[in-house]
Amino acid sequence: MRKILFVDGCVRGRERSSTYQVARAFLEAFQKVNPQDQLEEVELLRQKPECFTGKEIELRDQLLREGRLDAPLFDLARQFAQADGILVAAPYWDLSFPALVKAYIENVSVCGITFGYGPEGQELGLCKAKKLLFVTTSGGAFPEEQRWLRGTGMDYWKALCWMFGIPDFDFLWVQGLDLEGNDRQALLRQGMEQAAQLGARW
Ligand SMILES: Cc1cc2nc3c(=O)[nH]c(=O)nc-3n(C[C@H](O)[C@H](O)[C@H](O)COP(=O)(O)O)c2cc1C
Repeated sequence: MRKILFVDGCVRGRERSSTYQVARAFLEAFQKVNPQDQLEEVELLRQKPECFTGKEIELRDQLLREGRLDAPLFDLARQFAQADGILVAAPYWDLSFPALVKAYIENVSVCGITFGYGPEGQELGLCKAKKLLFVTTSGGAFPEEQRWLRGTGMDYWKALCWMFGIPDFDFLWVQGLDLEGNDRQALLRQGMEQAAQLGARW
């Protein structure tokens, strides 16, 4: 049995979010093929991870110095490190994703839990997951040559996967949902179909 972690950054709320619908299509197809696997969900809208300031950093450093990796402050990091596969879903906001997703990243980026350093100071990823999929939807649609400019959220997650030692990164980006003249529902349906295909073979 594998543990699959769903990090839900669809902060407009599940009932209103297109990104959530795409993510759910992925999960339903995945669960159909892999009924034995266990799904854990972190709904950032409810969980509201703290943004880090000096106070949180001081506490984190103190806990790390004392070797207290089992402290509640590290619950999200331990959960992330122990998952076998991770799905992150968040809408496309201002070239990346909502701030609560960044706050989540601050909470899971813990030296000694999700990443660390080897004897020669080399960076080591400590996460168990073999793969991470990032799902997003955007109002606009962008040409491929602007991927470097528009895709900073995907690139960020790709870099995090490298840091955490997760070898297989992929993303699904459903675009153009808010463009005048586009059929939002049709685009969304297409995105959900794509997600279901991915989920069935993930
Ligand atoms: C705060 C905010 C920022 C957004 N920024 C962008 C943006 O930079 N580019 C874009 O194409 N769409 C942007 N959008 C539109 C959303 O990406 C789009 O509506 C998306 O499908 C919303 O997903 P959701 O229904 O899961 O919340 C933004 C929407 C909001 C509310």
